[in-house]
Amino acid sequence: VTPNKPLLMEEIEVAPPQANEVRIKIVATGVCHTDLYHLFEGMHKDGFPTVLGHEGAGIIESVGPGVTEFQPGDKVIPLFIAQCGECRFCKNPKSNNCTEGWAALRPDVMSLEDTRFTCKGKKVYQFMGTSTFSEYTVMNQNAVAKIDPAAPLDRVCLLGCGISTGYGAAVNTAAVEPGSTCAVFGLGAVGLAAVMGCKNAGAKKIFAIDINPDKFEKAKVFGATDFVNPRDHDKPISQVLIELTNGGVDFSIECTGNVEVMRSALECCVQGWGVSVIVGWTNMNDFSAKPIQLIGGRTWKGSLFGGFKSKDGVPQLVKDYLVKKVKLDEFVTHKMNLDKVNDAIELMKHGKCIRTIVSVSPQ
Ligand SMILES: NC(=O)c1ccc[n+]([C@@H]2O[C@H](COP(=O)([O-])OP(=O)(O)OC[C@H]3O[C@@H](n4cnc5c(N)ncnc54)[C@H](O)[C@@H]3O)[C@@H](O)[C@H]2O)c1
Ligand SMILES: *[C@@H]1O[C@H](CO)[C@@H](O)[C@H](O)[C@H]1NC(C)=O
Ligand SMILES: [Zn+2]
Ligand SMILES: [Zn+2]
Repeated sequence: VTPNKPLLMEEIEVAPPQANEVRIKIVATGVCHTDLYHLFEGMHKDGFPTVLGHEGAGIIESVGPGVTEFQPGDKVIPLFIAQCGECRFCKNPKSNNCTEGWAALRPDVMSLEDTRFTCKGKKVYQFMGTSTFSEYTVMNQNAVAKIDPAAPLDRVCLLGCGISTGYGAAVNTAAVEPGSTCAVFGLGAVGLAAVMGCKNAGAKKIFAIDINPDKFEKAKVFGATDFVNPRDHDKPISQVLIELTNGGVDFSIECTGNVEVMRSALECCVQGWGVSVIVGWTNMNDFSAKPIQLIGGRTWKGSLFGGFKSKDGVPQLVKDYLVKKVKLDEFVTHKMNLDKVNDAIELMKHGKCIRTIVSVSPQ
């Protein structure tokens, strides 16, 4: 693919796995806003050609030398953050940003040395270390989660990014408390998963905020109790929320990628103890806020992949789905085959879907 153009279907060669690598047959994949960010929003112009997609699930097809943890036939989820277990960040329970993954070298795609894709004799970049819009991909075993064989791959693929991200932002990063009042900004899959996290953590009141009111009905399914469209008010949205909550919410989670919204999310928190978590990352602009907002006792945090250590967290989330503690089916609004992936991208661009599940190979 090239920036700002529809994706092209091409035959590619996927080399066999090398030492400590596995080759995965991708069965299904979601389409996440971060795929668009790379493609249309022009952030990483030098990472082309690439195979996009980072929210997939599949089956191990073959393993390279030194791989003991996986066998052909295992169900797996590719992870865009590794968990090597050895680095400083893996050893510290406060972080999940392992330094051993592809991301330590480049922010968007793997280095060309590490990619196993070629197309017409030319190397093709591997996006976010995963590239799930492909029948096969090769990954280092430290960035692959083995999951329960009972898991339906066309559902649990969503745990490869968006749902884990939003859910974890609430339960891990914000650490929402029982009886609290929460506000979630942006009701895409990530924001809806944050609503679900607030609900599971025992929040009493959950404000769902979006400029697209079509999203409110879904937010109710995940546990939102109150709905606010900033465009219905002449006052700043933070002011509206402060008035509705007698001084501000206990926790707010920003899932839009808009820096103005990040500020509103901070400012709608109660002074003294309010915690605001930034999840969205589309917009690379700087943000601003008044220091007094923090001096009074608010906390401003960011969340990467919901704070989950990837190899430990994802299999547990799959189990949580199988026992119905975590919802996934309710996020799926569309299904299509890989040759229609551009339709899925259009739906996402225009806010017409929550998640589209793309079938890549038969299960
Ligand atoms: N931190 C991470 O690890 C991580 C991982 C995945 C995705 N993300 C980011 O999370 C964000 C959300 O992803 P998504 O897939 O849910 O996207 P999405 O496009 O489906 O949802 C975004 C929602 O925000 C709403 N919105 C836009 N502007 C708004 C405003 N001013 N006020 C209120 N609502 C507004 C939109 O109407 C939409 O419903 C993206 O920025 C994505 O890049 C972060
Ligand atoms: C994760 O760590 C890498 C270095 O290993 C760094 O370049 C990157 O910015 C970190 N990611 C985030 C979201 O902080
Ligand atoms: Zn994503
Ligand atoms: Zn590590």
